[in-house]
Amino acid sequence: MVVIRKAHDEDIKALSRKLLLLLKDESSQIYIDNVVKFGIPDVYVEKAFAEETLQNAIEKGGATFYLAFENNDIIGFAQIMRQNASTAELDRIVVFPPYERKGIGTQLLQFALFDMEQKGVSHVFVNTGKEETHARRFYEKNGFKLVKEATIDTPWGKKLNIVTYQLRLGSI
Ligand SMILES: CC(C)(COP(=O)(O)OP(=O)(O)OC[C@H]1O[C@@H](n2cnc3c(N)ncnc32)[C@H](O)[C@@H]1OP(=O)(O)O)[C@@H](O)C(=O)NCCC(=O)NCCS
Repeated sequence: MVVIRKAHDEDIKALSRKLLLLLKDESSQIYIDNVVKFGIPDVYVEKAFAEETLQNAIEKGGATFYLAFENNDIIGFAQIMRQNASTAELDRIVVFPPYERKGIGTQLLQFALFDMEQKGVSHVFVNTGKEETHARRFYEKNGFKLVKEATIDTPWGKKLNIVTYQLRLGSI
């Protein structure tokens, strides 16, 4: 049975460990989809998912993590960053293989959006790669509307075409 809940402090260590382990396997789909495709250097990945970085995101960046579990094992997560009283950014949502396409991403997203709405957030936005058709379909299916396209300079020195989607809470 899949359980979805907000992360507790002690879950962050387990989440970091799981992410770093999954991303160490350079032949895995998750490594190819998230690291190779965007040309992200390994040092950047290790820093981005270190326990200290995730903890800092909570303490200093206004982040909330939501987790999906099966048999006490983390099988997916979502990270939402509060921008101000009414707006939040869905920073990441990932369902680990082989659990994709079973509705778990939708459950995680709906859980996180409901929690944000309870906290007074009215708008949630998300950035994704322009070519990320499966992620784009996922957001569109969940009611997000395309609001912007741009080319950005990534922290690892590459240019990336991104699209921004927005959802008005209470609108779906
Ligand atoms: C995007 C992601 C979180 C979706 O989670 P999920 O549990 O697989 O999604 P769901 O099963 O809830 O799918 C809901 C809808 O999203 C769309 N979708 C999800 N995965 C898709 C895929 N691989 N190809 C096409 N559409 C897809 C479909 O419309 C799907 O509805 P359907 O199955 O009825 O056709 C997951 O695929 C994932 O972790 N991908 C890798 C990381 C990523 O790209 N994250 C987003 C950017 S941070």
